[in-house]
Parts: sequence; structure tokens; C-alpha cells
Amino acid sequence: MAGKSSSKKTVAAKAKKVVKATKPAARSKTVDSGIKPAAPKAYAAVAVKDSRNGKNFELPILKGTVGPDVVDIRKLYGEQGLFTYDPGYGSTGSTQSSITYIDGDVGVLTHRGYKIEDLAENSDFMEVCYLLLEGELPNAKQKVEFEKNITYHTMLHEQIARFYQGFRRDAHPMAVMVSVVGALSAFYHDSTDIHDPRQRTIASHRLIAKVPTIAAMAYKYSIGQPFVYPKNELSYAENFLRMTFAVPAEEYKIDPVVAKAMDKIFILHADHEQNASTSTVRMAGSSGANPFACIAAGIACLWGPAHGGANEAVLKMLAEIGSTANIKDYIGKVKSKQDNTRLMGFGHRVYKNYDPRASVMRKSCHEVLDALGKRNDPLLQLAMELEKIALNDDYFISHKLYPNVDFYSGIILQAIGFPTSMFTVLFAVARTVGWVAQWKEMIEDPTQRIGRPRQLYTGYGERPYTPMNKRK
Ligand code: CMC
Repeated sequence: MAGKSSSKKTVAAKAKKVVKATKPAARSKTVDSGIKPAAPKAYAAVAVKDSRNGKNFELPILKGTVGPDVVDIRKLYGEQGLFTYDPGYGSTGSTQSSITYIDGDVGVLTHRGYKIEDLAENSDFMEVCYLLLEGELPNAKQKVEFEKNITYHTMLHEQIARFYQGFRRDAHPMAVMVSVVGALSAFYHDSTDIHDPRQRTIASHRLIAKVPTIAAMAYKYSIGQPFVYPKNELSYAENFLRMTFAVPAEEYKIDPVVAKAMDKIFILHADHEQNASTSTVRMAGSSGANPFACIAAGIACLWGPAHGGANEAVLKMLAEIGSTANIKDYIGKVKSKQDNTRLMGFGHRVYKNYDPRASVMRKSCHEVLDALGKRNDPLLQLAMELEKIALNDDYFISHKLYPNVDFYSGIILQAIGFPTSMFTVLFAVARTVGWVAQWKEMIEDPTQRIGRPRQLYTGYGERPYTPMNKRK
């Protein structure tokens, strides 16, 4: 999109040549957490000729650890009076980061250098949380300490439970999540000095610990069952399942296969680089806002069907298709772009190859359905047939559309017993650690300034005010 539009004669030609690049605001009180990202080095340059005036200038090229080099345009406006134009940020790096790396062309995802497949196979979610936040996998002592810190914060202030009464009981649980997580800022406002590393850590732990409790309560409220308090002897995934599915009248037995699958789902969704919701969290946090409010902003962004809402949309799509006999028609509708129909759970802005999370999720999906005796689940059969047809269809091949993580997660979640409206909530529970880790990294980066993109203005130029009696 950017490419097509960049050839337009732009109003940028009129831009003022002013301003020495201003220094980033000092953050004297901020102490970093000890994670030292490699400072990007300018090692080459792109030579640019401005055809309007024949002026030549250079833009430095920076090298990261891996991945495409980036052109440093930080001084472009100050020195040349030009903005860049990149709606949807397809070619724009918004920050430097040392947390997560994605190579979408080959389908690689790593956290702090570890492949997602290895983490899903060998770690549990708490280890992955520690890795994202602290930069390294925990040793045995660190892990015990970290789990203690998280479980210490799993309960909510009793007053928070009263918020739920204010929602209609059919409120979408994501609406409840946005509100209640945002409301945590009212409880931890004065005690959250974002420039104090200790308080940042406590806010991070509180968020990771409390979000599952809030999510389970949203579910309980929607079905009219009493809230179930957390039980700290359980693992993160077990505790969440219990808070969601236990009732006071019966003893709740945790199925280890389900708990393992839940843990894996959390790992696979823990972080995903500078996606829409993470960038939203960073943008909100860049103004110095309260971290609980920033995470609520991320949850709001995640809700959309193009992002975290896709797992819910996949199940709706499968229900709409109904049976394998209708797949051909549905694919035809997608290919002809009828009513903007898309194959939900397919395609990704970054992955132009198999989403590595989808491969793990696919395997887990079969394992869970086998263990639950649902191998012949019609939904799974339908999904597998759809996947087969789409992967062999020219449209999907030429557009590089592969199944993404959400194509399979909904099927597992439904088999476990979650209603579709809870799917995106589970994504939010898992992604909270990623948002928090990225927020912390941003606050600790001395070069980070308030996020403030510019625009290509295409509206009216200045014109005289129209009085009421002259308006059409
Ligand atoms: N089904 C059919 N066609 C598609 C699809 C799809 N799922 N996704 C992209 N396309 C086509 C699109 O019509 C366009 O075709 P053309 O060039 O002929 O006009 C081309 O592919 C590029 O599409 P785009 O919208 O420019 O691609 P994008 O990078 O902006 O969008 C996406 C990425 C994930 C929003 C999109 O692939 C999509 O809508 N997928 C379905 C929703 C989904 O599964 N989202 C979950 C993403 S994974 C979870 C997460 O990380 O949030």
C-alpha cells in the first residue's frame, strides 16, 4: 500500500526545513533491569537524491543481531523536511528490542534467542514468563522464587469483584477484561512509580498474576456461577482451569493432558514482537501512563478479528461452513473477495511461510482431541479438510497464506470446554507477559520518546469560515 501511494506528489514538498533533532527526554530516575541490548551500529548508508531540488543526502543503515538491516530516518524530518509514509507500518521499525525475533519468510520465532518449538516442548509458561521479563531462563532457585512472587499476587481486591455486577450478564468477556484490567490502575495508582525498577517489577508480577483471575471471573459472571478463588499450590495453567471450571458443589479434578495443552497455548501466545496490541501498549506507555491502563489498551486492540479475535472468528467461520460439502463454495467466496470474506486463521502480516506456533498447536490439537476421545470431532474434520484444500489452492499459495496459530487454538479450546467468547480472553491472559516485558523494555530504553507519528495530510488547505446561512 505504501509503495503505491509514495509516488504521489505529496504536500510534504512544502514541509519546513527546520529543527535540530531534539534530544530524547532525560529519564534520570530510570534504572535499567540489567538487560543490555546491543546498541545498533551504523555501518553503511543509503544514498538518496531528492528529485525536487537535486539535493543528495545519506541515511545511515543500522544492523541488528539478525534480521533485515534498517534505514535510520530519525533525522530525516529535521534535516530534509520530509516525513515517511507507511500506513500499517509494513516497512517501519518502531523500536529496538531484544525480546522476540521473527523471520516470517522462513517461519522462525524466537524469544531471547530460544526457538518457540523448543520452549513449547521443554519449558513451562512460568519459565517463559521469566525468560521474557528477565532475559534468561531461570535456574531452579530463581524459578521457585518467581513462582512465589506471581502466586503471591493472584487474588484481587474484594472491591474489584463488585465491578462485575455492573455489567450485563451477556457482556462480551473481552469488554469485561478491558474494563477490569484498566480498573486495576485505580487500585495501584499511587504505588506505581514507573521510574522505580522495583515498582515496575511488582506491577509486572501483579498483572501476570491477576489477569487469569479476572478472566476466569468474567467467565463465571457470564454463566451465573460463583467466583472461584485462586489456589496457589497449583500451576498457572491448572489454577486458571480450576478458577474457570470448578464449582463449589464438587471437587474439581484437573486433567493433566488439558493442563499441559493450556500451558502450551499460553507459551505459544506469550509474545510476538511489535504486533498491533504490543505497539498499542508501547504507544500508551510512551506517555508515562499507568501500566495497568496501558495493558488494558493492549487488550482492546487484541480484541479485533484481524488480531487476537481471529480464534473466535475461526470457529464462527467453521460453523458457517457447516460441512465439508460446503468448503468449495466458501473458498470460492474468499477468492472472489465476496463481502470481503477471508479465510480466518489464515495469513499473517509477518509470516509468509508456516507460522511456527501453528505447527506446535496443530500437533497439540490432535493430542488433546485424542486424549479427550474427540478425534472424530466434526469441527476438527472440517478444519483439516479446509486446511488441506487451502494449502493446495493457487490463490492461497500465491498469496503466501498459511494457517496461523489461531486456526488450531480455537479447536483445542472448544474441546476443553471454553465458549468461543473466551478464546480471545485466553490470548490476552497469555499475552500479558509479552506486553509487560515490552512495556518494561520501553521504559528502560533511554532513547525512547513519546510515540507520535506524523501524517500525509490530504484534507483542505486553509479556507474562510462558512457562516451557518451559507452552509449547504
Ligand atoms: N483469506 C483470504 N485472503 C487473504 C487473507 C485471508 N485470511 N489474508 C490476506 N489475504 C489476501 C488479501 O485479500 C490481499 O489480497 P490481494 O493482494 O489480492 O488484494 C493479500 O492477501 C494481502 O492482504 P493484506 O490484508 O494486505 O495482508 P495483511 O498483512 O495486512 O493482513 C492479516 C494480515 C492477519 C490481518 C490477514 O492475513 C487476515 O485478515 N487474516 C485472517 C485473520 C487472522 O487469522 N488473523 C490472525 C493473525 S495471527 C494472530 C495474531 O498474531 O494476532
